Amino acid sequence: MKIERDFPLKKLNSFGLNVKAKCFVELTSIEEAQTFIKSGKTEDRSLVLGGGSNLLFTRDFNGLIIKVNIGGIYVVKEDADYYWVKSGAGVVWHELVESCIKANFGGLENLSLIPGTVGAAPIQNIGAYGVEIKDSFEALEALNLETGEKKYFNNRDCCFGYRDSIFKNELRDKYLITNVLFKLTKNPIIKTHYGRISEMLEKAEIAEPTIRDVSEAIIKIRRSKLPDPDKFGNAGSFFKNPVVPIEQFNFIQKSFSDVPSFPQPEDRVKIPAAWLIEKCNLKGKIHKGAAVHTKQPLVLINHKNAKGTDILDLSKKIQQNVKNKFGIALESEVRII
Ligand code: EPU
Repeated sequence: MKIERDFPLKKLNSFGLNVKAKCFVELTSIEEAQTFIKSGKTEDRSLVLGGGSNLLFTRDFNGLIIKVNIGGIYVVKEDADYYWVKSGAGVVWHELVESCIKANFGGLENLSLIPGTVGAAPIQNIGAYGVEIKDSFEALEALNLETGEKKYFNNRDCCFGYRDSIFKNELRDKYLITNVLFKLTKNPIIKTHYGRISEMLEKAEIAEPTIRDVSEAIIKIRRSKLPDPDKFGNAGSFFKNPVVPIEQFNFIQKSFSDVPSFPQPEDRVKIPAAWLIEKCNLKGKIHKGAAVHTKQPLVLINHKNAKGTDILDLSKKIQQNVKNKFGIALESEVRII
């Protein structure tokens, strides 16, 4: 393991921002990670990096970036109904999904093509098309970044919520996730209720879809709406969809009868942030090198040699507009560094 200085991060963040880290190290096994942490070489400011697909660097990083590159996908246990699959934190998320689909292990197919690594996925409880990682998550193993001590977290320990977990709150930057254990079913339950999945399957005349069919439909939908990060750097949804009290929703509906809504527990309603941004006429809005994606305004893109601050300023403009028009404070989903 080698600590590098002034390390370029352009290829390690999906916005493609041209920033550097003061120090950088890549760790490829649990043993190496443990030895490194115990050696006390971690800086005061350390950031564990997965795929860099949920980060916005607004300046050079004045600390240590730890890139986790622990690989391996193993079936560790099975019973009559389930397989328990363990994956290294450095495995690319979609590669894990692909391996599971190939083996007909059900549970992750609706999370096809989400960028990032397996280790980063539980941190924000990645979700798409009616499924979240917490639905198939059994446990994870992590190292305490101060002591190097190993700790196991089960599903409940992680305190999963909508794009949220304990690792974004009390334990932010306190642990390095080394591997994740999933419980996947031998009898896949096909979930096609969300968005256009069933419409796509009907069009393809698939009456009894397999998990592969569902995955392919989702990949098509994602590719049609989300920008290709190789062309326009981005971090997927920039904001969370706001969840508001029903009274506030009813008030908004009086002026905007077409407001889409998804009922939530405790008399709350989720409103698509994409709709709020579109209603503020911000689709396609350009600010310096940054822009609001035209097909899905929840996504901000590196339109042309953007600086992190261009994207940040654009996000603030959006927040201000949405606040003024609807009284809703959009919360960023992307971590701003
Ligand atoms: N909408 C508009 N205008 C648009 C696009 C969408 O008004 O141009 C409205 C429509 O009412 C639509 C609704 O937004 O029904 C929802 O849109 P979509 O299905 O595209 O999903 P989303 O709520 O914008 C969320 C996740 C995505 C995930 C999709 C699909 C969040 C923050 N984002 O987006 O996750 O892929 O659902 O499940 O919850 C990500 O986290 O990076 C991400 C891409």
